[in-house]
Amino acid sequence: MLILNKTAGVFFKPSKRKVYEFLRSFNFHPGTQFLHKIVLGIETSCDDTAAAVVDETGNVLGEAIHSQTEVHLKTGGIVPAVAQQLHRDNIQRIVQEALSASRISPSDLSAIATTIKPGLALSLGVGLSFSLQLVGQLKKPFIPIHHMEAHALTIRLTNKVEFPFLVLLISGGHCLLALVQGVSDFLLLGKSLDIAPGDMLDKVARRLSLIKHPECSTMSGGKAIEHLAKQGNRFHFDIKPPLHHAKNCDFSFTGLQQVTNKRIMKKEKEEGIEEGQVLSSAADIAATVQHTMACHIVKRTHRAILFCKQRDLLPQNNAVLVASGGVASNFYVRRALEILTNATQCTLLCPPPRLCTDNGIMIA
Ligand code: KG4
Ligand code: ZN
Repeated sequence: MLILNKTAGVFFKPSKRKVYEFLRSFNFHPGTQFLHKIVLGIETSCDDTAAAVVDETGNVLGEAIHSQTEVHLKTGGIVPAVAQQLHRDNIQRIVQEALSASRISPSDLSAIATTIKPGLALSLGVGLSFSLQLVGQLKKPFIPIHHMEAHALTIRLTNKVEFPFLVLLISGGHCLLALVQGVSDFLLLGKSLDIAPGDMLDKVARRLSLIKHPECSTMSGGKAIEHLAKQGNRFHFDIKPPLHHAKNCDFSFTGLQQVTNKRIMKKEKEEGIEEGQVLSSAADIAATVQHTMACHIVKRTHRAILFCKQRDLLPQNNAVLVASGGVASNFYVRRALEILTNATQCTLLCPPPRLCTDNGIMIA
């Protein structure tokens, strides 16, 4: 727990190997031979309690997930202690469901893999202590998993992708561009200087009170924005994409959120409504925010592609860009990235939307 708290939220930390070695030392039995390797994956880094059983060829044998989205929508954001309690309430059932669906006896598992970072310390702690108890009982090896590495490598479950490839990870907690040179060999090219795009969308959706919109009441903020944006005018108001002149691959989303908030306040005055009611122009605002966010993401990714090609870090033709994380399940963002990859002779690969958001399969 002490190690987790110290390392949570840190990506590419040099002491990573030490942490991994420490965790791998739990009940590791190097002499054990398995005919078919079968891994149980457990994910509790944020607000999804998820588990899956996957075999060594990538077959998903069983899967279960409990999403906390509806609870957190009501409290207006993730309260870590609430998330922790919900993980505690559900983890046993979810792991049991994944195992039952797989028809695998726990004793036939080859290993247990669990997200150890980055994420909310209280949430991560539930998955980790549950897993360590299980590896102790079953005497199985433990595989500590980096949540963002799992997002980045999920594509290898559905597509044959050779290293190196460029990965864009855009979620509620993270935003980064990295060159993936091997299973745990990542070169970080850019990251968000403030909040992640999913966090920005969640905040805008909350400010727009989309939970009160009949079509979006159970959707995550990002999903609600995507849904409403289809009915809106993306040129409703003009926002300049951030970091226009920054000669790097970093991102920023706080400015976009603040400008949008001001716009919402102005519209509320014009429409004579209070904060907490849904604006008649909510769909236009959703479309504009989604469009500006997509433009920003594409511009920064374009810089990363040019940088990698200039330095021969990626092949000149048919280089692969993988987009993953919750925000990569957004079809407007995917379409924008596709226009970029077509123009730069690259190939865009995205896991199916249900594998973009957090799940147990990517951990297993
Ligand atoms: O990867 P994920 O499930 O959890 C994190 O690791 O953060 O991503 C969740 C984030 C949330 O912020 C959610 O609003 C956003 O992904 N999201 C979307 C969509 N579906 C989920 N954002 C844009 N469009 C979507 N369709
Ligand atoms: Zn995630």
